[in-house]
Amino acid sequence: MTEQTPARKPRVAVLFGGRSSEHAVSCVTAAGVLGAIDRSKYQVIPIGIARNGQWVLPEGNPEQWALNSGELPEVGPSDETVTLAEIGGTHQLIVAQTNEVPRELGTVDVVFPLLHGPFGEDGTVQGMLELSDTRYVGAGVLASAVGMDKHFMKVIFAAAGLNVGPYVAVTDRQWRTDPAAVRAEVATLGLPVFVKPARAGSSMGISKVDALDQLDAAIASAREHDLKLVIEAGIVGREIECAVLQGHGTDAPRTSMPGEVDISGSTHTFYDFAAKYVDEKAAALSCPADLPADAAAAVREQAAAAFEAVGAEGLSRVDFFYTEQGDVIINEINTMPGFTPVSMYPQMWAASGLSYSELIDELISLALERPVGLR
Ligand SMILES: Nc1ncnc2c1ncn2[C@@H]1O[C@H](COP(=O)(O)OP(=O)(O)O)[C@@H](O)[C@H]1O
Ligand SMILES: [Mg+2]
Repeated sequence: MTEQTPARKPRVAVLFGGRSSEHAVSCVTAAGVLGAIDRSKYQVIPIGIARNGQWVLPEGNPEQWALNSGELPEVGPSDETVTLAEIGGTHQLIVAQTNEVPRELGTVDVVFPLLHGPFGEDGTVQGMLELSDTRYVGAGVLASAVGMDKHFMKVIFAAAGLNVGPYVAVTDRQWRTDPAAVRAEVATLGLPVFVKPARAGSSMGISKVDALDQLDAAIASAREHDLKLVIEAGIVGREIECAVLQGHGTDAPRTSMPGEVDISGSTHTFYDFAAKYVDEKAAALSCPADLPADAAAAVREQAAAAFEAVGAEGLSRVDFFYTEQGDVIINEINTMPGFTPVSMYPQMWAASGLSYSELIDELISLALERPVGLR
């Protein structure tokens, strides 16, 4: 069933929190988006997802959430559960509670899933929304899942001709049945190596290993996040990122000017969780990055190619290493990148002439424009 574009203000359900270890980061992102979304144009319904996966109406004022307030923001569980149901061809939010008659919260035209990590950025929530033909911002099921899995992402990037660094993917079975073979394969990468959970984010569970006797401990800590791992050769290079925004209609994806994350002035040995979110001065974010014109062009071209390779929609941030030799090596794609007003993705667009509010508006418009079903 197709829906008419409503004459009233589109109703946007903003989803945040979630089951992943990036719950708090998502809450902070929601604070930014809820504060900047154009209320003269959109009606906004904030919906929190508690750590247990329950959808709830958030308590208090999520717009005030911040990461540096000592306590990490968190969506708590509630007696009331919010569900999304297709009723009479429209999408309704229903609030239900034991022994109470369910009540309607209203129609939803588009969902903005501000969720990072597993059960949010990985295609699961996207699949749930697809089942009810609900429009949503950002990548679909497959692109989200590929963007979440650092192994499959590399397989696809390599197939698309992008420059991927040396790595070893380690499954749970491989590690549990033949750890010696895994250690031997990792040894061929040289040192240091980066040990990562295949599906996490915000540097959770990642260790830099400088000596092979640290490898098992690094594997154990990555396996706390995901039993599938990716172990990569350490790359010496500057960290360059590029923001991609889907084009309207058949237009090509748009790319921002590349930005740079520089932690060389800090005590952090890589861009770890603390450097990202806790230690505010650790990372210097700059945009545009000071790059030769040909390198900046290569980064932008490869960012758009990566976006298309995984079949992303809406937005993605594509991260690279730029080596002293002038090589551009792709690190990863994030289909729901950090999206607070000071995060790299919005900052790169701001430096490229698109403000935070305009960016939110663009993303919602793109989501409202697109058809439902296979596309
Ligand atoms: N192969 C690598 N070589 C050098 N540094 C790396 C490598 N992989 C990751 N890092 C460092 O670790 C950080 C986090 O790794 P990344 O793969 O981007 O994980 P996440 O998805 O959690 O952001 C990077 O920003 C970079 O500082
Ligand atoms: Mg990263």
